[in-house]
Amino acid sequence: MRKKIIAGNWKMHKTIAEAGVFLRGIQGHVPSRPGMEIWIAPPFTALHACMAFVKQHDLRVVIGGQTMHEAAQGAFTGEISGMMLRETGASFCILGHSERRALFHETDGIINAKVRRALETELTPLLCIGEKEAERESGDYMNLLELQLASGLAGIETAHLKRLVIAYEPVWAIGTGRTATPEVAQETHKKIRGFIARRWGESIAGSLPILYGGSVKPDNIAELLDQPDIDGALIGGAALEVRTFVAILNNVEKV
Ligand code: 13P
Repeated sequence: MRKKIIAGNWKMHKTIAEAGVFLRGIQGHVPSRPGMEIWIAPPFTALHACMAFVKQHDLRVVIGGQTMHEAAQGAFTGEISGMMLRETGASFCILGHSERRALFHETDGIINAKVRRALETELTPLLCIGEKEAERESGDYMNLLELQLASGLAGIETAHLKRLVIAYEPVWAIGTGRTATPEVAQETHKKIRGFIARRWGESIAGSLPILYGGSVKPDNIAELLDQPDIDGALIGGAALEVRTFVAILNNVEKV
């Protein structure tokens, strides 16, 4: 049985005070079901405060970063290392998000270096892949997704891939309200898992959680999670408000 993960990516939202209000708001709504984890990626500045909150209130929420630098340390003004993330108590780091690829020019090579550094630092990489609208329409989006996986994971020992989580986030569905239908998402997840099986073996493919991201909302979470190859969700907008996030958690409980 693969674990299920409901992850919130706050992007560049929430001060420390706002993060506290959110975590207080979801207290009492976090599912206690074994095998189900709730992850939140706050901005760097709120990481430490969020960790302190979850520890103090025994909240079953896993805290992680949204990006990190690939070097261990150095003259990289404004950047944050994996060790710095670890020290705040972060357990995972989102890597290769389409916003990082498009707005901050992260290539598959850079993302690969980040994934390796995260593994070395004992952070779980949450590696995001996803095609743009034109790539979906052209029909050969799988080539792109396979390339993102093959280059993002190049040179990593197969045994280490057990510590990885993948998020499939079609770029055309992010922040647009145009979520992939459960059928389209399932079909793509199945193909992604098939590629992983061919490349790294059935055992890794069978145990690797693959999350879906892109306009996940309270009213579509259940049908998405119902699909056999969808192991959870990476949520942006609907993970910012207590009301919508709690509604998602409640609907997940019913699946
Ligand atoms: P939305 O849920 O706002 O579409 O964002 C998805 C996302 O980018 C999560 O990383």
